[in-house]
This record gives sequence, C-alpha cells and structure tokens, in this order.
Amino acid sequence: MILFRKKSDLAIRRGDLKKNNFKIGLVPTMGALHAGHLSLVKRSIKENDYTIVSIFINPTQFNDKKDLISYPKNLTKDCQYLDSVSRDIIVFAPEISEIYDKNLSVKKFNFQGLDKFMEGKYRRGHFNGVATVVSHLLDIIKPNNAYFGEKDYQQLRIIQQLVIDNNISANIIGCDTIREEDGLALSSRNSKITEPYRKFACKIFEAINYARINFNSMNFDDIYNYVNNFFDNIDDIELEYFTIAESEFLIPVNKKTIDKKYRAFIAVKLQGVRLIDNIALN
Ligand code: PAJ
Repeated sequence: MILFRKKSDLAIRRGDLKKNNFKIGLVPTMGALHAGHLSLVKRSIKENDYTIVSIFINPTQFNDKKDLISYPKNLTKDCQYLDSVSRDIIVFAPEISEIYDKNLSVKKFNFQGLDKFMEGKYRRGHFNGVATVVSHLLDIIKPNNAYFGEKDYQQLRIIQQLVIDNNISANIIGCDTIREEDGLALSSRNSKITEPYRKFACKIFEAINYARINFNSMNFDDIYNYVNNFFDNIDDIELEYFTIAESEFLIPVNKKTIDKKYRAFIAVKLQGVRLIDNIALN
C-alpha cells in the first residue's frame, strides 16, 4: 500500500502507470472501510493492473452537519486493512483543500431526474456533492474502471448517467451489496449502533426482502401498507421512506408493467443513525 495525500504526487504516479499502459481501477470511498468496500477493492484488483482507493469524507454531500462531524474516521486502520489485501494498492487520501476551494463550491448537475426521489428528495444537494467529488476523482485519476456498490443504487445510477452526459471514458461497474448474516447491509454507519439496538437493524432487510418475496403475489399498495404497518409497530425505528421504483429511471410506481425491473428502496433512522438499503424485486 502506498499513500498519497497530494493530487500532484498522485498525478505523477498516475502518469507513470499510464505510460506503461497499465489498466487502472478506482474505488472511491469515505473510509471506515469494511467488507463491503473490500469486495469492490478485490474486484478492481482482479480486473485491473493497479487499484487506487480514494478515502475522502466529502463534506459537500452531507446535508446534516452532525452526521458529517460524527462520521467514523480512521485512516491508519483503513491503510492497514488495505495493506493486508495487497501491498500494491494505491491510496489517495487528500485534505479538503486539495479538492475544494475555501467556499466548498459545488457544481450543479442535471441528473435527468434520477435524483428526484428517495435520497435526492430527502437529502437536498447530496448528489451534487457526490457528483462534484466523483467527477473530480475521475478527472485526476482517469481510471479505466470505477467501482460502486449497489448498496447505494441511486448513487450508482447517477454516476452511470454522469459519465455518459460528460463523455467520461471510465466504465462504471456496479457491485453486489455485502450483508451481515441477518441481512443487514454493511455500512460505515453501522458501527454507531450500540448493542441493545443492533437487533432492530435487521428489520430493514426484513422489510425489503418481504417486498421481494411477495413481488409476484401482492400488489404494490398492499406491500406499501404492510411495510408501513411493520415499522409503525417498531418504536425504535423511524421509517423515513419505503419506495418501490422502476430500476432504470428510478421513478416510484404503484403498479408493475411487464418487462420492467423494479427495486425497493428504504431509509430509516435507528438510534439517530440514518441507514439506507435497497433490493431488486424481479
Ligand atoms: P462510502 O459510503 O464509503 O462507500 C464507498 C463505496 O462502497 C460506494 O460505492 C458504496 O456503494 C460501496 N458500499 C458501501 N457499503 C457496501 C456494501 N455493504 N456492499 C457493497 N458495496 C458497498 O458512497 C460513498 O462512500 C461516497 O458517496 C463516495 C462515492 C465515495 C463519494 O464521496
């Protein structure tokens, strides 16, 4: 593992790799790495000559200041974790001033409506922050492939659209969600859930998996009713949204159309921690 803090240093290394025609994979992260991140890193190592993992807690994508301040952070531990996977991994962990001017200016993007619902609706400005930093990383690193998790499916779709609309040559590769045994999707924020509350966290997966299992036999209104009642009966979880949307354009729907793919999306608060998940229904 080799660590770069400055984009000028990374650019020199990147130039050397490019001269030798090496294939580069990029895995953008905000650190506090877990096995979900690692699955992306391992896939990148398999499919590229060199893998660059960026670790940057991007301030502009946090609409809630408290969430930003309390976001878990441990660069030393993350570097050790990556080093145990491969000594060849290149880590790019810039300071904020390497990425932003002092006003933290964010670009405004047109995501063709992909940001209208779910996370885009409940976290105003979030995806402009995400796209600003990701387009910056793609521009500095110019990877052949960049890896994103389906855990953040709306983010994945938005980045896929971003590279098309801006003629960026990187392939955007979506990777499966990695889960705990009880179904809870791995997330850096899970570490903030303490033991007495942990048993409620698996309810998130239970709800979306119910939607998946009953997709063929129930209509969407009945699924919506079931999930809303389900969370009404769990005092410790506050449901922010449960939405079934068509998978390509991410438009919420009340009934299915043949030949279309659908996913269920969910966001909850548990012990003040905001957790999201989603699942393919067909
Ligand atoms: P972060 O939440 O650190 O996630 C980094 C990448 O890991 C994302 O592509 C995310 O979808 C993926 N990931 C997270 N948990 C996963 C899981 N359980 N299984 C599979 N993949 C998982 O997403 C971000 O950071 C940021 O928005 C970022 C893209 C880095 C821009 O700042």
